[in-house]
Amino acid sequence: MAQASDDKLKKIVSHAKEYGFVFPSSEIYDGLSATYDYGQLGASLKNNIKSYWWKAMVQMNENIVGIDAAIFMHPKTWKASGHVDAFNDPLIDNKDSKKRYRADVLLEEHMEKIRQKIKKEVTKAAKRFGGSFEEAMFIQTNPRVVKYNEQIKMIEDRMRTYLENSDLVALKQLIEELGIVCPISGSKNWTDVRQFNLMFSTELGSVADDSSKIYLRPETAQGIFVNYLNVQKTGRMKLPFGIAQIGKAFRNEIIARQFIFRMREFEQMEMQFFVKPGTELEWYENWKSKRIAWHKALGFSDDKYRFHDHIKLAHYANAAADIEFDFPMGFKELEGIHSRTDFDLSAHEELSGKKLQYFDPETNESYVPYVVETSIGLDRMFLAVMSEAYDEETLEDNSQRVVLRIPAFLAPIKAAVLPLTKKDGLPDKAREIINGLKFDYDLQYDEKDSIGKRYRRQDAIGTPFCITVDHQTLEDNTVTIRHRDSMEQERVAIDTLHSLLQEKVSLTSVLKQLEA
Ligand code: GAP
Repeated sequence: MAQASDDKLKKIVSHAKEYGFVFPSSEIYDGLSATYDYGQLGASLKNNIKSYWWKAMVQMNENIVGIDAAIFMHPKTWKASGHVDAFNDPLIDNKDSKKRYRADVLLEEHMEKIRQKIKKEVTKAAKRFGGSFEEAMFIQTNPRVVKYNEQIKMIEDRMRTYLENSDLVALKQLIEELGIVCPISGSKNWTDVRQFNLMFSTELGSVADDSSKIYLRPETAQGIFVNYLNVQKTGRMKLPFGIAQIGKAFRNEIIARQFIFRMREFEQMEMQFFVKPGTELEWYENWKSKRIAWHKALGFSDDKYRFHDHIKLAHYANAAADIEFDFPMGFKELEGIHSRTDFDLSAHEELSGKKLQYFDPETNESYVPYVVETSIGLDRMFLAVMSEAYDEETLEDNSQRVVLRIPAFLAPIKAAVLPLTKKDGLPDKAREIINGLKFDYDLQYDEKDSIGKRYRRQDAIGTPFCITVDHQTLEDNTVTIRHRDSMEQERVAIDTLHSLLQEKVSLTSVLKQLEA
């Protein structure tokens, strides 16, 4: 199973490179670890994802507006937010493999292994008992499963306590006690656990002293917090209201791996929703449902998503959950939804000495709003789409095709226009069709190779439609349109192409689905 998932990720990485989605960064110098460049199709897919998010947040909600704050911020920002003092990972090295791991991730992975054992027991028992099998009862009473669940609870409880108390010695002891081995060397030869700050720093101007040290932002959220009153006043916003932003964030991740899943430079799409204190948990639930609906509107199967409620809450949160996606490497965090209380605004108020209170015209009171945030990694979303879309299909004639079943509204190229031959005026006709459609749709023209090969090339980049111009086109202004997923073809009039594409590839119908 693990092998199969590994293979799938490898296939996606090489497919993404071969077809111009994602390249290793500065590849001519052998690349830079955990840094990637988006190619011509990748940039387009990324923009379409951004557009889906931005429109669902900003365009569809009267009370959400968007901003674009600077990456560099006053260094006191990161003192107030807690990132200077607390944005650390507990790291542990294996002395034999020289590989570095996050201590909490080693423990999470250990618990996941136990969960897999439970799953196996359940599957075995379900087979044995057939129709009379009661899963809940089995989980509660089977001695082996009960023991496994107790183990998980024990690890969770101890891990939470140790992380909360920054008890690094106890964290190491727990890893040793559980006999966790390095996945590379297989040994238990661990160093002590140490804290490591994840922010990148640089100097502002030419003098390198402490006062000029600034950071590359590790999250976009703080650009929203420090601007919240600017936006509230200039936009005459009333609570509850939201501010959205898409932008780069930087973290000196120690264990940056798994392709674009964990990078040192990545992009976030974040929205902070400012609410009246006391209403935040209601809004938190509301945003959890809205965000999962946004994901599910992509049409991937529902069992690809699950919520993971945080055991260890970050220093700023009173509730937090991740939306996890079933990536080729298993379920992992795709998006976070956090109820951040008034932590950030109050901390900025204190350190800046500037009032950040909202005057509530309904109650005539002034207070610091509470904040519910939704925060999704754009690159992770890109990987989720690619991994779900990637499919190797064996056709009826036993030939193989690789097809990217990207939801049509996100596909980089919406339609390819293909003259059947390079002669008889077919290319001119194809160009004419492109010229009529290109204002609204991303299209590709291709006349090279057999039509079959051209279809395969478009399948491999996820183009939902291929429009073929043949000799009949010259006679009656009709073309064949081939559907990527079913490979079915139909003959349609050229003057219906615009509305046909509009119906099939526009974002509007997906946004309407979210409203319903
Ligand atoms: N403002 C809250 C915040 O930044 P986070 O859970 O640290 O919360 C939010 O990050 C999202 O950003 C994550 O769910 C993930 O999708 C994405 N993300 C975080 N670190 C990342 C990395 N190193 N590479 C790619 N995406 C990352």
